[in-house]
Amino acid sequence: KGHPRRHLIHKFWARKPHNVVAEYIKHYTKRGEIVLDPFVGSGVTAVEALILGRKAVAIDLNPISTFITEMVAKPLDLKDIEKAYREIKRKAREKIRELYVTTCNKCGKDANIMVCVWERKNSNPLEIRFYCPTCKKKRSKSPSKEDLQKIERINIMDTPYWIPNVALRYPDGKEYKEGTHIKEASTLSRLFTKRNLVALSILFHKIEELEDDTIRDFMKFAFTSMVHLASNMTPDRPTRPFSSFWAQHRYWIPPRFLESNVWALFRSAIWGRQGLVKGKKDSNNAIKYFKQAKKFEELENDANILISTQSALDLSNIPNNSVDYVFTDPPYGGDIQYFELSTLWLAWLRGKHEDKRFNLDWWEDEITINSEQNKDFDYYHNRLHVAFREIFRVLKPGRYLTVTFHNTDVKVYNSIIRAVIFAGFELERIIYQPPARASAKALLQPYGSAIGDYYIRFRKPIGFVGKIEEREIDEKRAKTIILNAIKRILMERGEPTPLTDILKGHTLIYSELRKHGYRFFGTNPERINKVLEENRDKEFIFIKGQGWWFKNPSKYHPELPLNERVEAVVLDTLHRKVATFDDILQDIYLRFTNAQTPSPNSVKEILKEYARPEARKWKLNPRIREQEKEHSEMIGFLAQIGKKAGYQIWIGQKEQSDIFQGKPLSKLCDFKELSLENTSYDDIQRYVKQIDLLWIKERKVAFAFEVEYTTAITDAFMRCSMIPESHHTKRFIVIPEEREAFMYRKLHSELLRERVEKEGWKLIFFRDLREFYSTTKKKLSISPKEIVEIAKTPVEKREKQVTIDSFANQSSSNGLLEN
Ligand SMILES: C[S@@+](CC[C@H](N)C(=O)[O-])C[C@H]1O[C@@H](n2cnc3c(N)ncnc32)[C@H](O)[C@@H]1O
Ligand SMILES: [Zn+2]
Repeated sequence: KGHPRRHLIHKFWARKPHNVVAEYIKHYTKRGEIVLDPFVGSGVTAVEALILGRKAVAIDLNPISTFITEMVAKPLDLKDIEKAYREIKRKAREKIRELYVTTCNKCGKDANIMVCVWERKNSNPLEIRFYCPTCKKKRSKSPSKEDLQKIERINIMDTPYWIPNVALRYPDGKEYKEGTHIKEASTLSRLFTKRNLVALSILFHKIEELEDDTIRDFMKFAFTSMVHLASNMTPDRPTRPFSSFWAQHRYWIPPRFLESNVWALFRSAIWGRQGLVKGKKDSNNAIKYFKQAKKFEELENDANILISTQSALDLSNIPNNSVDYVFTDPPYGGDIQYFELSTLWLAWLRGKHEDKRFNLDWWEDEITINSEQNKDFDYYHNRLHVAFREIFRVLKPGRYLTVTFHNTDVKVYNSIIRAVIFAGFELERIIYQPPARASAKALLQPYGSAIGDYYIRFRKPIGFVGKIEEREIDEKRAKTIILNAIKRILMERGEPTPLTDILKGHTLIYSELRKHGYRFFGTNPERINKVLEENRDKEFIFIKGQGWWFKNPSKYHPELPLNERVEAVVLDTLHRKVATFDDILQDIYLRFTNAQTPSPNSVKEILKEYARPEARKWKLNPRIREQEKEHSEMIGFLAQIGKKAGYQIWIGQKEQSDIFQGKPLSKLCDFKELSLENTSYDDIQRYVKQIDLLWIKERKVAFAFEVEYTTAITDAFMRCSMIPESHHTKRFIVIPEEREAFMYRKLHSELLRERVEKEGWKLIFFRDLREFYSTTKKKLSISPKEIVEIAKTPVEKREKQVTIDSFANQSSSNGLLEN
């Protein structure tokens, strides 16, 4: 669903879909309860809360945010808009119109310039697009001599009234991070043509002259809703020759840009499809009751909205445990520079009389990443943490916080989640919401970028009453409980796990603590970190780039690694359909919750390996289907080779019914039931029987092969581990050659490296096996040494490289290769 008119009056960056916001508010609050958004942006949360009969606290450090929020929420008599518009029109319209008069090149009568096309490198316009009231047509022409003279005249005149004189720089002289990147355009006025500056100055002045404070504000609101459209920031688009827009998240003047008629823009800011009249009609209708509070306490009486321009870092005007629900959308790293981008609007609003509401130094407390503000990632993370501590304090115990944010890199994603958890919240669920309608821009994103939003539900623990007294707690016992809970999380994940993901599972840790009577313990994830650190290199190890893992994993029988389970689900989805990244992410997030929710990046890695992008969707790579078929072929080859090498053959129970050269593989299997030396019936039934292929001699497994086309190989490794050491089995994993790099990484990972080395696993590529099969087809017997020769050691480079020769020698010396 698109934005309703009330949210379309004024541009803002990263506006949240109102219907989603409304659903959350409905679900987590009752009528009359208080909803807080301390990063309210354009006010969607507050406005939707009012519509639903809730009370709203709208906080943002950015004065344009609180201004937009107020202007959207506050009721306004439409007749008053009309009256004010007529007054401005009477005083300003003619003066402005004159600036845009030209001559129709068809009929020779006066016409109105709608748009002029300019080039940055040229001081004259290229083309004039105008409306001729006589011909009743939109036309286009090259500028005439008169047109050029007119522009010259305007260029040397003074702007008749005040215009903002603001540099697009920080006070220390540094240019904005997302500045114009054009040297000549580092002041605000340079974003406009002289003609438009003149027109804007007249228009703004006439608005300033309005008597009534409220109406004047609304007209200024209409003014800033169009002022960026009157700038030089619109590229000339062949499909939209008359329409301007703010194309990028910065002050960018394209090489060829449009200059739009200021009066036409203003008229449409009032009367247009996304104008003030239509917008206020919608909000007037939707908001049945509006009474602004001056301070929080007034919300307990009849006021229902507090709008406050202040930092979320300090919510001291809101008492402890007083808010019923928080829905918020914090800044996403430095993706959007709100301060820098708002200067254009705020500088105008501030006006000649320097309206104190619209200050221009609020960047000092802005939460962002911005080198020109000297704010790095740590700054961002720390501030976010402080803000969520404040949010935690004001929220009632047992109530919810929904944090939403747009796709972003993993680092920012982790930072947000950590900041919230470390503030004391318990993470309950992550939901991934694909966009209802992908924007044109989102579609241009590279494949594998999430274009939707995350919605994460947190809860302030019920038991929380205030700061915990250290002595209340039996530290030692609590630590043991935490330690065990961390172990459970690692066992469930089955793979090294970053701190953020362990924290995602901390609900489990706290519920464990509560079960043991530690009611007030659930507020400090610092403790979890501490327990990890205290057990570093004792219970756990920390693997760089991967996270925490058991020092001695075999003690804990962890689950299959999470990434293999995720991989299986992704492959399953891809087998069923061609899917967008969003579809896939949503599937995954519904299935793997809390500590099990994988990072979007790991999902992307999997897709890159198994799928390819096609028409904006991910499609299973056709090679994968081929490889599935090749799976039985490889087993067939190996079975025939094994026989020629003098072994008896066992074929994996599931594989026996697969077809090879027109017959089921079971035809090549020499046993009905498997019985092996030193091996329990149970181990055979549960594990060994499932191994893809075994070469057997005298009830010993001489060679074991697992043919794999994905990297989900932990199962295969486990099965093969059940073959007793006394068999001196040679173990091989047979893979498609293009999976080599992926497999190397896997075999090198902390989870498998030790086992791969200890058990001497080797790799054989599909390609090499196929070739070996065809060159030995005619031979009646084969030496097993030959198959060993086509195998590779899954190690990129090591000091003591195990060469094929040394491997073969070593093998023959223990008697296994004699035939
Ligand atoms: C992602 S936007 C919110 C957009 C909003 N959800 C909407 O629908 O329009 C984040 C907001 O955080 C604000 N912000 C940045 N630092 C802040 C701080 N220290 N205190 C309060 N707000 C801050 C920015 O001004 C911006 O409006
Ligand atoms: Zn004409």
